[in-house]
Amino acid sequence: MSKVNIVFWTGTGNTSAMAEYIAQGVTAAGKEAVLIPVDQANIADLVAEKAFALGCPSMGAEQLEESEMEPFMCELESQISGKQIALFGSYGWGNQEWMRDWEERIAAAVASVVNGEGIAVNGAPGEDAAEECKDLGRDLAGLI
Ligand SMILES: Cc1cc2nc3c(=O)[nH]c(=O)nc-3n(C[C@H](O)[C@H](O)[C@H](O)COP(=O)(O)O)c2cc1C
Repeated sequence: MSKVNIVFWTGTGNTSAMAEYIAQGVTAAGKEAVLIPVDQANIADLVAEKAFALGCPSMGAEQLEESEMEPFMCELESQISGKQIALFGSYGWGNQEWMRDWEERIAAAVASVVNGEGIAVNGAPGEDAAEECKDLGRDLAGLI
């Protein structure tokens, strides 16, 4: 059975909470969700599927986390042409620039962002954000 892989980095748990809600949406749609911390992710397994999710909070100065997520993204971006990728992550005080830049990187790699834009949540996901993440999981499940 095809799986929906959800690869993420989190420092304080907000982005992993989003990942878990996305996984709940996948499961509710009858597909298997696999939550994978980015340091355990395998690029070959990820690109074997048509669609998957990537999550990372805004770190540095509106950047992806630099020691694990950024190197992973650098390696991944040459291999995602034609893929549908759901983006998500938490942020603090910024203007969500990290998410806009991430969306542009996906487009430059000739891949698509599921639903056209990533889900950016301020701090911990509340009820509305949880529903948004579950909906994204259902959408992802429909793509594999
Ligand atoms: C080192 C560091 C840098 C950060 N840089 C930004 C930033 O540039 N913009 C922003 O909106 N939030 C920034 N944040 C806030 C985090 O994005 C925010 O706390 C987020 O909820 C963390 O998600 P997590 O719980 O998944 O780690 C930063 C946090 C840390 C620790």
